[in-house]
Amino acid sequence: MSNIILIGFMGSGKSSVGRLLAEKLERKFVDMDDEIEIAENKTINEIFEEYGEEHFRSLETGYLEKLLTKKNKVISTGGGVIIKEENVEILRKIGVVVYLNTSIEQLMKNLEGDTLRPLLQGKDVKEKIVNLLRTREPIYFEAANMIIQTEGKSVEDVTNEIIKLL
Ligand code: S3P
Repeated sequence: MSNIILIGFMGSGKSSVGRLLAEKLERKFVDMDDEIEIAENKTINEIFEEYGEEHFRSLETGYLEKLLTKKNKVISTGGGVIIKEENVEILRKIGVVVYLNTSIEQLMKNLEGDTLRPLLQGKDVKEKIVNLLRTREPIYFEAANMIIQTEGKSVEDVTNEIIKLL
């Protein structure tokens, strides 16, 4: 069976949905951010701080390339993986790309007080989210084979909806 890849903005629930989806489908779950942190022996914050975003993006590409030979997995990606065109091409080759589409209000709620995401630290978090979303949203839609609205739905609801549409 081909892989299922979850894409979407930070805080859209990719990891929670991915974990439950993998459990229900009896597949292995892979969280790209976790895998990168383990491989580099650094947190995402440390990678951004020490080497910058560009370097992190290359690590994402390197990891995606490794997934090209894998099957049967549920993969949760980092929210910015789609900003490199090259990555979108690889994602499509890896499997079915599922976009978790979430409202800005929900994202704001989910991301409130976050300290783990380097792109959302400091002042004007709302403005940062709005700006990132503006450039990224069209790419999420374009990259996806399946679009799931998550508004008002539990992790279980979203997971079941994906399974129905597979
Ligand atoms: C990022 C999203 C994060 C992580 C890094 C950058 C982004 O992953 O990869 O902080 O650019 O949107 P999550 O979407 O899992 O938070």
